[in-house]
Amino acid sequence: MSKFVTREKFIPYNLPDLTEAEINEVTDTLRSGWIAKGPRTNQFEKDFAAYVGAKYAVAMNSCTAALHVALLTQGIGAGDEVITTPMTFASTASTIIHTGATPVFADIDYKTGCIDPDEIEKKITSKTKAIVPVHYSGQVCDLDRIYEIARKHNLFVSEDAAHALCSRYKGRLIGNKLMGTASYSFYATKNLATGDGGMLVTDDEETARKARIFSGQGMSKNAWNRYAQGGTWKYDICEPGFKYNMFDIQAALGLQQLARLNEMQAKRLKIAEQYNAEFAKIDGVEPPFVPDYTTHSWHLYVLRILPEKLTIDRDQFIVELNNRNVGTSVHFIPVTYMSAYTNRFGFKQGDFPNCEKHFERIISLPLYPTMKDEEVQYVIDAVRDIVEKFHK
Ligand SMILES: Cc1ncc(COP(=O)(O)O)c(C=O)c1O
Repeated sequence: MSKFVTREKFIPYNLPDLTEAEINEVTDTLRSGWIAKGPRTNQFEKDFAAYVGAKYAVAMNSCTAALHVALLTQGIGAGDEVITTPMTFASTASTIIHTGATPVFADIDYKTGCIDPDEIEKKITSKTKAIVPVHYSGQVCDLDRIYEIARKHNLFVSEDAAHALCSRYKGRLIGNKLMGTASYSFYATKNLATGDGGMLVTDDEETARKARIFSGQGMSKNAWNRYAQGGTWKYDICEPGFKYNMFDIQAALGLQQLARLNEMQAKRLKIAEQYNAEFAKIDGVEPPFVPDYTTHSWHLYVLRILPEKLTIDRDQFIVELNNRNVGTSVHFIPVTYMSAYTNRFGFKQGDFPNCEKHFERIISLPLYPTMKDEEVQYVIDAVRDIVEKFHK
């Protein structure tokens, strides 16, 4: 029997990694007198584009906004279909509906949790205009296959890179040499956190120009500058746009988080490697499968339990972890299980078998740069203890 002893202090599932550098940049911003979109947002866009190796970056107040705008820049709307994955957060699909188009779901590759290109091909009709692949958890989708399908059928690709800052496909950072767009999230739990925030990147000048207009109330160029000396009070609204822009307090966090990103990533990688090595030795759970073409960002550590080897299911496993003071989450309850989607599209059990099987097995474990070594070891010991107690 193991000698596992439950710790007193709860290990949260996630914590942001904020230092004096971020705090000082925010207070400097407050003291500067410019708190709306302005110089820091512009600088963050430049620095971010340079980091991922994209020509243009447009900062927004969320990834949801960026995903919406990405489709709008391509004129996608009523009567169109857009293919995406059910294993994602709702906004990937909701933003398709917000354009007036219809989301069409394609099942995942069970090994990676990412959308399966073969399933995409099956869902293409004469109405299909775009694909929104999600780099799930920081894995990357099989991009060569996806872009090959897109070229063949003349489809736009809007990569949902909410989890994929620092992910690489065949050695190349997501966002680098893009043929479509990539949209990142800076929500509090993300690898780079600004509380809420997002970024759309593209190598296409026209897409970037439209993204700026759609995300900035449809205003003509540089209208943000209209209150500065030398700025002009005149502006045009050339589209009925959205109030989606980032502002400088968010960008202040973003600038300093970006400067510390490589250091934070190294810590994530170390934890993920320790988890991978230890969970591979435990008969009853399965560490994530990472294909050769993926450099994982380790935004999420999604452990799968193997119910065929255990007397408890995933939900009970989470209760057992919680009883041992380990915080968890589940990414994701499939979008196709949500009432807004089942009511609208009539989805039923068995429609997306790989996604359903994956969902029944997954638990997101704590993984963040400020985790202490003993906390990482404790999470491993807690998982081992549960598997030992509930092994068939
Ligand atoms: C896969 C995915 N796409 C999009 C989003 C939306 O991101 P945001 O909260 O920045 O709008 C999330 C949020 O976590 C996500 O997980």
